[in-house]
Amino acid sequence: MGHIAIENLSKTYINRRRRSRDKENPLQQKGERVTVLKDIDLEINDGEMVCFLGPSGCGKSTLLRIIAGFEPACDGSLRINGQPVKGPSADHIFVFQYSGLFPWMTVAENVALGLRHLKNRRQQQAQILEFIDMVELNGFENHYPRQLSGGMQRRAELARALAVNPDIMIMDEPFSGLDFLTHMKMREEVVNMHAFIKKTMLLVTHNIDDALIMGDRVVILGGRPTGIAMNRQLDFPRPRSFEKAPELSRLRDDVFLMLGVNYAI
Ligand SMILES: Nc1ncnc2c1ncn2[C@@H]1O[C@H](COP(=O)(O)OP(=O)(O)OP(=O)(O)O)[C@@H](O)[C@H]1O
Ligand SMILES: [Mg+2]
Repeated sequence: MGHIAIENLSKTYINRRRRSRDKENPLQQKGERVTVLKDIDLEINDGEMVCFLGPSGCGKSTLLRIIAGFEPACDGSLRINGQPVKGPSADHIFVFQYSGLFPWMTVAENVALGLRHLKNRRQQQAQILEFIDMVELNGFENHYPRQLSGGMQRRAELARALAVNPDIMIMDEPFSGLDFLTHMKMREEVVNMHAFIKKTMLLVTHNIDDALIMGDRVVILGGRPTGIAMNRQLDFPRPRSFEKAPELSRLRDDVFLMLGVNYAI
C-alpha cells in the first residue's frame, strides 16, 4: 500500500549564517527563517503516478525528502498508509538516485540487494535476471557501474528498484543529464514499470511534457512561500501523445503559462 496524506504541511529552514540584527525579535536573532513550504494539502492514492513541477528552488526536493522521512516537517501532518512518518523506511520507500548503485558491486549484486529475502538461491538468481532483462541490460550482469554509460546505470538502478518492490518510489529528476533518446527510452521504461508494478510513484521533473505524458496526476508547486498552484488529474488514455489528444496540448499551454514561459517564440 502506498497511500500518502499530507495536511497543512509547512517547512521552515533557519539560515544560521545570516543572523538578523533585529534585537527586538529574539527568534530572528538565531538566524534568518525561510519558509519554503506552506500549508501543503495533498492526498496521493495507492498506485498513483504523480509528477511534480515547479520553478527551481520552490521546494520540490524538500517535499520529497520530507515524504521519504529524511527530514521532518515543521508543521502539519504526513501519514503514509495511515501512520505518521517518523523517519526513513527502506522497506516501504525507494528513493531513486542519480548514482545510487554501489560502485564496488556488479549490476547483478546491486539488484540482488533488493532480493535478500529470497532464501532460495536459484529463485533469487532467476529474479535478478528477469529484472535485468526488463531494463534490457542482458549481458551486463557482471559489469561494475563504472563500466556502464549514464543511461545504463540508471536502468540498472530501475532494476534495483523493481527488486526492492517498495510501496512508494520517489524519483527526483531521474532523467536529468541524459541525451534525448536515452531520456525518451527511460521515460517509456518508467511508464511500463509503473503499469507493471502498480506502485505509488512520485516524480519531480522540470520537463512539462514528461509530467503530462507520464503522470496520472500533475501537481505544480509555486508561490512564495510555496503552495500547491495546480493539482490536476490526467485522465488521458495511454499511450499518450500531444498530437492524439488536443486537450492535453491545451493543458500543456496552460502549464507553460503558469510557469511563466511563453514557448511559442
Ligand atoms: N538544508 C537546507 N537549509 C536551508 N535551506 C534549504 C535547505 N534545503 C533547501 N533549502 C532551501 O529551500 C528551498 C527549496 O529547495 P529545494 O531543493 O527543495 O528546491 P527544488 O524545487 O527542488 O529546486 P530545483 O528544481 O532547483 O531542484 C531553496 O530556497 C533552498 O535554498
Ligand atoms: Mg530539486
